[in-house]
Amino acid sequence: MVTRTYDENTVIFFDTTLRDGEQSPGATLSSAEKLEIARQLSRLGVDVIEAGFPAASPDDLKAVQRVAREVGTEDGPTICGLARAVESDIRTCWEGVKDAKKPRIHTFLGTSPYHLRMLNISEEQALERIRNAVTLARSLCEDIEFSPMDAGRTDIEFLIKACATAVEAGATTLNIPDTVGYVIPSEWADKLEHLIAETPGAGPGSGVIWSVHCHNDLGMATANTLAAVKVGVRQVEVTINGIGERAGNTSLEEVAMTIQTRKPYYGLRTNIDSTQIMKTSRMVSNYMGMPVQPNKAIVGANAFAHESGIHQDGVLKDALNFEIMTPESVGLHQSKLVLGKHSGRHALKKRLEELGYQVEGDALNQVFARFKHLADTKKNVTDADLEALMTDEFSKPQEYFSLSDIQVVCGTMGMPTATIRMHNANGETFVQSAVGTGPVDASYRAVDTITKAPNMLIEYSVHSVTEGIDALGEVTVRIGLPNSPRTFGGYGADSDIVVASVKAYVAAVNRMIAGMGLGDIQPEGDAAVVGITTGTD
Ligand code: KIV
Ligand code: ZN
Repeated sequence: MVTRTYDENTVIFFDTTLRDGEQSPGATLSSAEKLEIARQLSRLGVDVIEAGFPAASPDDLKAVQRVAREVGTEDGPTICGLARAVESDIRTCWEGVKDAKKPRIHTFLGTSPYHLRMLNISEEQALERIRNAVTLARSLCEDIEFSPMDAGRTDIEFLIKACATAVEAGATTLNIPDTVGYVIPSEWADKLEHLIAETPGAGPGSGVIWSVHCHNDLGMATANTLAAVKVGVRQVEVTINGIGERAGNTSLEEVAMTIQTRKPYYGLRTNIDSTQIMKTSRMVSNYMGMPVQPNKAIVGANAFAHESGIHQDGVLKDALNFEIMTPESVGLHQSKLVLGKHSGRHALKKRLEELGYQVEGDALNQVFARFKHLADTKKNVTDADLEALMTDEFSKPQEYFSLSDIQVVCGTMGMPTATIRMHNANGETFVQSAVGTGPVDASYRAVDTITKAPNMLIEYSVHSVTEGIDALGEVTVRIGLPNSPRTFGGYGADSDIVVASVKAYVAAVNRMIAGMGLGDIQPEGDAAVVGITTGTD
């Protein structure tokens, strides 16, 4: 368990993976997945979790309430919800977070000329709305954050007035967003320094925390965030893997590891347990169906790989020759042999606990059966295998359809054919065969025929969890609908990559059914019907 401690040199980590991150195209999560990610963010040591936007939908409200009740404990993080500067949003937000031991309401209003025009309000009207919204929020909750949206393009004098109004009305954190990813580090640092010095009631010693929230449209979110930290900002709003609207938000792992690696330069501390970074990154990537680019700083597959002979030689002599931080410091361990096929349930449970997973009863039996199966086919079962297996077992969206069996025939001598057996939520069985350009295509066609939820495959990626021919394969897919900007991701892992591919696809289709409200679609044909689809024409 992380012990969070604070002093004037602590940088507070406000994670918005579950709110701004979930606004990434295709990043829809079920409420169980949000809860699991929130638990992991808490283990990682984030100080504030922005769990969602409760007024967005009844499901969002319920998900925030669950996180508030189950993760917002005495020694857990603050649980925050987002609300527009509108009475109904603020009241709904309070319903979402009030059961947390440390609740926070985060309210915002656009302040740039663009946003005032969009909202059709004058500067005076904006100040009035800020005053009313923050006063109402403060009457419900002690911890209030206010954001002048699009502050990056807001005139500094008006920004000072907006921040002063929010503080006067009771805001305890002032978050300055670069909503459109427009600013550059030196200019941003000057703006923040000026704001901190000139905003009445919010200077050093006032108790008000200054925060930044940067978007990455010009690739400068991390640089802008760190520039702000250097001039006195003490809260950073970040997401895991930098996910978020458009080009994303500032990435948590980049800021945390910079402050840790360049400690003498910043002279600051955080409550982040950096050894939890890799695990959190994988969980978010897998649950959201959003692969991490291989060269992504800190968490990319190549971030610690040394390819050239000179580098390899140098690292063997002394890792510091070419490494500024160790793989272990971010929780990346050499693939270790942890368990074998003779290992028992108890050994598996213990190892999973060491990796941060609590599994009991039926869930443990289920994982143990999967582990035994894997240990039979794969000589060495590693931590990475166990993590992939846990994600595969538990990153489940609401299951309108579940895969029970799959058989494929493929090769150069015939038409690739797949037969799929699936169940729907009523327990009815459907069997369908299809022909495709390859075994994955044939399988996906069969699934489409059963689920009657046709879609476009936008992205398909496969990679092996560990080295070797017997490695477990991980597949992430993203699907979408014509004429809709929304996309849905899915993840699957198996030692057979066709099986992993179908699992990932079924997960994405289930998310699409939930996300598009297609839950009442009738599957193809009668239950237990056997059909054949030809797809190559
Ligand atoms: O980017 C932004 O301005 C936001 C605010 C709601 C803080 O996400
Ligand atoms: Zn944002």
